[in-house]
Amino acid sequence: MPYPIQRVAVLGAGTMGAAIAAHAANAGLKVDLLDIVPPGAQGKERNSIVKAGFERMLKAKPPALMEQSLAENIRLGNFEDDFERLKEADWIMEAIIERLEPKQELMARIERVAKEKAIISTNTSGIPIAKIVEGRSEAFKRRFLGTHFFNPPRYLKLLEIIPTTDTDPEVVEYMRTFGERVLGKGVVIAKDTPNFIGNRVGSYSGMQAMNYALNNGYGIEEIDAITGPLIGRPNTATFRLADQVGLDIMVGVAQNLYELIPEDQFREELLPHEVLLRMVKANLLGNKTGSGFYKRVQRAGKTVFDVLDLETFEYRPAQNPKLPIVQTAQKQGDLGARLRFLVSKADEDRDARYIRDTLMHSLMYAAWRAAEIAHSLLDIDHAMEWGFGH
Ligand SMILES: NC(=O)c1ccc[n+]([C@@H]2O[C@H](COP(=O)([O-])OP(=O)(O)OC[C@H]3O[C@@H](n4cnc5c(N)ncnc54)[C@H](O)[C@@H]3O)[C@@H](O)[C@H]2O)c1
Repeated sequence: MPYPIQRVAVLGAGTMGAAIAAHAANAGLKVDLLDIVPPGAQGKERNSIVKAGFERMLKAKPPALMEQSLAENIRLGNFEDDFERLKEADWIMEAIIERLEPKQELMARIERVAKEKAIISTNTSGIPIAKIVEGRSEAFKRRFLGTHFFNPPRYLKLLEIIPTTDTDPEVVEYMRTFGERVLGKGVVIAKDTPNFIGNRVGSYSGMQAMNYALNNGYGIEEIDAITGPLIGRPNTATFRLADQVGLDIMVGVAQNLYELIPEDQFREELLPHEVLLRMVKANLLGNKTGSGFYKRVQRAGKTVFDVLDLETFEYRPAQNPKLPIVQTAQKQGDLGARLRFLVSKADEDRDARYIRDTLMHSLMYAAWRAAEIAHSLLDIDHAMEWGFGH
């Protein structure tokens, strides 16, 4: 193989960098994990940011490492004292803050030290890959591409690989095989378009589904009862997922995407509903602030979930809605049969109508954008299944 990867350098030890370093360590690779030096820090303090990221990763649930001893494969350092270590790396991946300028500056520094055959990549979720590598040499551009992992990277199967028009096809092919065989991922090759495949279709379908629910008077528990395993999706369904992702992130990603796609005739769906904006303003961001659409509370010695009343903006005990359509749909058999049944009942039942209309919009959007964002329809299916459990 032309680019054997044995040693990896991950730049940025935040949520993604530390977890990707752990996953590379799981695969038996040696990893350097580096981050910035806090301003004015001396001695041991110079590694305090990378150390904090590494320690957060060690405590992550579900665990990022397959076993704790694999942490020995990871060597910590910082961008000022240890940058020369990049000379040893066969693959250098940046996962720093989502801003173009620091990413470009980092690429210029990497170019000065990386060995000739090293593959360089970025984990950006949405900045155009070609922009990050702007200003670098042709030789650097040939071995540069996007490697977009999903959170948490050990568990979510999707790895989007995003070449630019300059990336050497041999590098793309090597990374695809490496991603599949060494890291155990499901690889989808995406085009370098805003938010790539998963987050493009995922943002649209998430926001459309939420807007449709909020505009048509559906209840939070009601939607979560019909958009989970019943239609082949995770338990987090719609509103629990929003709480898990963080409402600020969801709104931010959708708003950024909106700006990047002026030609997209469906982009208005990305504009957040006023309920979402009000929640962000009130710091009801979901799990990270303790309350979002749901709030975990202790009642009579038990942990239970209260739910946000969208009229009063106060929390009340969550109900377990007994929806007749759900009970009948569940008796229909496999996922295909359940979906066919729900769609057939859409004119007479409002919950079935919700499923039909939101599903139809998502599928239509994916079909409409397919040629622009992906090389095949199957790649869109894979991205949604492996990245979102859809
Ligand atoms: N969080 C996710 O779910 C997710 C998923 C896929 C991709 N991404 C992408 O991965 C990258 C990292 O995201 P994250 O969620 O791990 O972020 P994070 O905020 O957890 O970590 C970012 C890291 O960048 C470092 N940093 C801050 N300012 C810097 C600067 N000026 N120069 C260099 N480093 C700096 C920080 O010390 C921090 O460790 C981003 O490009 C993001 O879009 C995130």
